[in-house]
Amino acid sequence: MSTTPPPLRFSAFVMNTSSHILQGVWRTDEADNINFNSLEHWVNLAKVLERGKFDFIFFADVVGLYGDYDGGYEKYVQAGLQIPSNDPSVIASAIAYNTTDLGIAITSSVLQEHPFNFARRISTLDHASNGRIAWNIVTNGLSNASRNFGFDQLEEHDERYVWANEYADVVYKLWEGSWDDGALLQDKERGIHADPAKVHKIFHEGKRYRVEGPHLVAPSPQRTPVLFQAGSSPAGREFAARNAEAQFIIAPGPEQARALVDDTRARLPQHGRDPHDLRFFQGLNFVIGSTEEEARRKEHELEENIDLDAMIAHLSGAIGIDFGSHPLDTPLGAIETEGIRSVIDWVRESVDGREATIEDLGRLQGRNSRVVGTPEQIADQLELWRDAGVDGINVVNASIPGSYVEFVDHVIPVLQQRGLAQTEYAPGTVRRKVFGDDHLDERHPAARYRGAFTPVGV
Ligand SMILES: Cc1cc2nc3c(=O)[nH]c(=O)nc-3n(C[C@H](O)[C@H](O)[C@H](O)COP(=O)(O)O)c2cc1C
Repeated sequence: MSTTPPPLRFSAFVMNTSSHILQGVWRTDEADNINFNSLEHWVNLAKVLERGKFDFIFFADVVGLYGDYDGGYEKYVQAGLQIPSNDPSVIASAIAYNTTDLGIAITSSVLQEHPFNFARRISTLDHASNGRIAWNIVTNGLSNASRNFGFDQLEEHDERYVWANEYADVVYKLWEGSWDDGALLQDKERGIHADPAKVHKIFHEGKRYRVEGPHLVAPSPQRTPVLFQAGSSPAGREFAARNAEAQFIIAPGPEQARALVDDTRARLPQHGRDPHDLRFFQGLNFVIGSTEEEARRKEHELEENIDLDAMIAHLSGAIGIDFGSHPLDTPLGAIETEGIRSVIDWVRESVDGREATIEDLGRLQGRNSRVVGTPEQIADQLELWRDAGVDGINVVNASIPGSYVEFVDHVIPVLQQRGLAQTEYAPGTVRRKVFGDDHLDERHPAARYRGAFTPVGV
C-alpha cells in the first residue's frame, strides 16, 4: 500500500472589507483591498486562486463591531477594521458564475439569519455554483452584534453552541429530509412538476425555532454545503466533532496543532463518526522571497506597514479587554480582566526574560503563524504542518490580490513538485473534490433526517 500522504488543501482567508487580519497594510501601494465593493475585485481574485488550484475562497464575516477600544468604536472606523464590510453571500454567485472549480465558503453565524431563510439562500447558491458552496458555522462572540439583532447581551459561551446545534438540526432537516431523491420530475407531458408524496414538512419544534417546512428549494447538488467550523474551546471542539467536515484553526506552531487535532479527532467517535471525517485547515501568512535575505527584508517592510494600534484594538475587541485605555508598555501581568486570559498567557510565555507588555501582544499577534522564506523553505515548513496532522492551509493575506498572486506564481509550483499541492482539480462538487462524495456520509448526524419525514405506510 502506498504511504504517500495526500497533498495539502489550500484556501484563501478573506473578508469582504478593507482590513481583515493584518491591520494597516491596506494602505500599501500593492494592496487593492479598498476595492472590495467591486465584483471585479473578487472575480479577479477567484480566477487567480483557480489558476493555483486552491480548493476554497473562504470568507470570514461578522455582523457587528468588536468591543470598545479606548472607550469607543472610533479606532475601528478610522482603521477600516472590518467596517465597512459587505455581505459575502451576495458576491458568491458572481464568483460562481465566473469560475468552474473553486469552492466558495461563507461564514454565517447562527445569530444573523433565521435558519429557514438561510437554508434557502445556501441551497440557491449551491444550485447556482453546481455544488461548490461551504458554510463556516460560527456562534458570534460580539456583544454589539447581539444588540444589532435585538438581544440585550451576548448569549453565554457554551449556550451559544447549544443554540448552534439546534440551528444546524433545522437546516439539516430542510436540506436532507424535506425532499426525497426523485421528487422533482418537471414532467411537461403529464403536467407534474414535483411528486407531492416525496416533498415533506419537517415540523421542527425546539427551544429557539419552530419551522414547519417544506424546504422551498429542491435538492441542490450537495444538499448540505460542506461544513466548516472555527472555534477551539472545549465546547467548540465538541461542536466540530458532531457537525464539521473541516475545522479552521490558528495554532501557534505544528506541535500545538497536533495536540488540537488529536484532541478534536478523539471526540468524533462519541458522535458516531470516524476520527478522519474531520479535516483541519491551519491559518498561515506567507512572506515570500527569491532569497532568504529578500524575504527578511520584505518581512521588515511588512512590520513597518502594520498598524500596531489597530492590531491591538482587534485583539482587545475580540477577547473583551479594552487595552486602548492603557499605555503600550503596560505589563500584561498588571491587567485585571474578566475576559479571555488564554491569549494573554500565551504572549507572556512567548516573551523570554522579562514581563510581556501590551505592545508585545500586538506585535506577536501579527507574527503569529507567519512563514517567511524562499518557496523551498516555505515548502519545508508546510511539510512540518502536514506531518503534524494538518490537512489544509487557509492563506492569510497582506494584500489582495497580491499575496495570492505571489503564492500561486512562486510557491504553488514548488509545492506541486513535492506532492504538497494538487496539480489538477478532481471533477464534481467541492465535497466530491475534497472528500470524495457529493453528499454527507451516513455517519454524519444530518444523515438521520434522510427519509425521516416520509409519512408512515408510504
Ligand atoms: C480561525 C478562526 C476564525 C474565525 N472566524 C470567524 C468569523 O469569520 N466570524 C465570526 O463571527 N467568528 C469567527 N470566529 C470565532 C468563532 O466562531 C468563535 O465564536 C470564537 O472562536 C469563540 O469560540 P471558541 O471559544 O469555541 O473558540 C473565528 C474563530 C477562529 C479561531
